[in-house]
Amino acid sequence: MHANSRYREVYQDWQQNPQAFWAKQADNLHWFKQPDKIFDESQGVYGRWFVGGETNTCYNCLDRHVADGKGAQPALIYDSAMTGEKRVYTYDEVLTEVQAIAAVLQNLGVEKGDRVVIYMPMVAEATFSMLACARLGAIHSVVFGGFAAHELATRLDDSQAKIVISASCGLEPGRVVPYKPLLDQAVDMARVKPQACIILQRDQHHAVLRYEHGDMDFAQAVEAEKVKGTQVPCVPVLATDPLYVLYTSGTTGQPKGVIRDNGGHMVALLWSMRNFFGVKPGETFWAASDIGWVVGHSYIVYGPLIAGNASVIFEGKPIGTPDAGTYWRVVQDHDVKVMFTAPTAFRAIRREDGDGEHIERYDTSGLRALFLAGERADTETIKWAERMLKVPVIDHWWQTETGWPVAGNPVGLGLMPVKYGSPTLPMPGYDLQVVDDAGYPVPANTLGNIVLKLPLPPGCLVSFWNADDRFRTSCLEEFPGYYKTADAGLVDEDGYVFVMARTDDIINCAGHRLSTGAMEEVCAMHPDVAECAVIGVADALKGQIPCGFLVLKAKVDRDEKLIAKEIVELVRNEIGPVAAFKNVMVVTRLPKTRSGKILRGTMQKIADGLPWKMPATIDDPTILDEISEILQKHGYCEPQKALAG
Ligand code: COA
Ligand code: AMP
Repeated sequence: MHANSRYREVYQDWQQNPQAFWAKQADNLHWFKQPDKIFDESQGVYGRWFVGGETNTCYNCLDRHVADGKGAQPALIYDSAMTGEKRVYTYDEVLTEVQAIAAVLQNLGVEKGDRVVIYMPMVAEATFSMLACARLGAIHSVVFGGFAAHELATRLDDSQAKIVISASCGLEPGRVVPYKPLLDQAVDMARVKPQACIILQRDQHHAVLRYEHGDMDFAQAVEAEKVKGTQVPCVPVLATDPLYVLYTSGTTGQPKGVIRDNGGHMVALLWSMRNFFGVKPGETFWAASDIGWVVGHSYIVYGPLIAGNASVIFEGKPIGTPDAGTYWRVVQDHDVKVMFTAPTAFRAIRREDGDGEHIERYDTSGLRALFLAGERADTETIKWAERMLKVPVIDHWWQTETGWPVAGNPVGLGLMPVKYGSPTLPMPGYDLQVVDDAGYPVPANTLGNIVLKLPLPPGCLVSFWNADDRFRTSCLEEFPGYYKTADAGLVDEDGYVFVMARTDDIINCAGHRLSTGAMEEVCAMHPDVAECAVIGVADALKGQIPCGFLVLKAKVDRDEKLIAKEIVELVRNEIGPVAAFKNVMVVTRLPKTRSGKILRGTMQKIADGLPWKMPATIDDPTILDEISEILQKHGYCEPQKALAG
């Protein structure tokens, strides 16, 4: 045991009595009615937490702190490196903004259980809107700004959203991204039309509002309620009622709507803020992510506010806005104590500022720890960040589905010894095991499927929106009694977890989770494409980038380059620029097994220059030579020789 860490003791405490462990954490929150049962295994897909309890997440984020006399403390710190705007909102001020938006929504008939889609850039109003939904017991579904109209339409239809809250534009380096045309297109495409779209006009670009379609001006509507001083009390909801639905990439083009509840979510986030991230109430916490991702939900909005922290909402990039020193300026200006971002952001900074000259320009002495997640963190980048920042740099592993860290090194409990390459140890709540494909536990240090024993702890997904069966079949059926993480890895002799790769068609590109299956579906829409495969190939900056292999229809005699360009455009228009789909190769055939399965895994190994074995079931081995050749031509890997066996 590490002398100064309480980790083992706390983990054992949880193991001995999980319900008592979580019940104790729940005491730190406000309940309109205490739960009847801490865990009820007869409810939901695998059981439900805090059954019968009534609470409200917005109350716990805002009203509770105001009632405790902390209304004048900073709650949200808005900092845009794109516009230069900075503004600190106190808990009192956030409450005013949130009540006004809640009033606008209420006037539009939004009630408990209704869905509201939020499609916004990184502006403070996005966060206020999420909290306003929570206040009313309405269920928000935030859609990342880098997704295009089709993805938005899919989410509108699946969630059957009553209202959309959006903005006139997002700001990317060197370009303004008008959101309204994308939203209009999505609404036109959607089978289920929202009743109204509330649009925040930004100075950089004004959207044309379609009043006849129910468009409204965000600022005008909110201001009217502020002038009236409308008070909107928090609507008590069941702990088990959904707080939000967040769509995440699955293996097909149909995204999965991860449902997060109210009670368990708050309990888990509060535990993690104090014990894992080690932030004290009143301190500034910064998750440099986007509210469109789970990190934004958990650690820009809900976690810090539930724990009484100030949270930074940052609009900008780690580099180029204006330079690789932006993050350090934010740390200095807002006295950030604990920071969280994706490894790719640090790779980008390191590439531009390897000697840390920008870091020296700022006072980052207040920073105590840096947390990295979202993709595998390479050791070189971690060591570089440790050298530059002189604070612990902590790799931790989790996913949209879990909502909070599964494995990590808990600063709040005291750091455990670091093993580079490992996100350290499982957190209380998670009984993490590694099993073979038949579901049998594998010995220490053996690669296998990482699974989590049911029940999942508070805060994890309860199901997929309107799709319990999909949740069962994709996550629970393969390893009965366990949740399948779809990550492969190992646990060593000390219990340290090593996460190596996904076992499905999900890739992580610049910390963004993308489905290659969804990209294949789009490529296949092109009239000249007979079949295709999209794989993730290693990329020094983004971790992985998608790469498409196209087989054209026999009679196609158009220029291949033109077709490739059209397909890149198609993916950008259908999924969005965030797909970063720019590499396309036309091939004559794809390598397959005798039963017709495309050998994507082998193609990926070849592209990455990794050792690979000739699959025993391959139909025609010569096709792999053709793939190697074309990859080489496009500047990828040196093709590896097939290993014997
Ligand atoms: N709205 C509109 N477009 C967006 C967008 C948004 N919110 N976010 C990204 N895009 C666009 C980008 O402008 C880019 O467009 P382009 O093809 O015209 O250049 C495209 O989507 C791909 O974006 P990205 O993969 O992010 O690449 P990038 O070159 O713009 O930036 C990094 C590279 C590493 C600087 C950036 O990816 C980054 O900061 N990553 C950290 C990610 C992160 O925090 N993830 C959250 C998990 S913790
Ligand atoms: P997301 O749902 O977008 O958070 O992506 C979750 C996936 O990202 C996980 O299933 C992993 O494949 C990957 N991931 C996240 N954090 C890490 C990490 N620290 N190490 C390795 N992979 C990670």
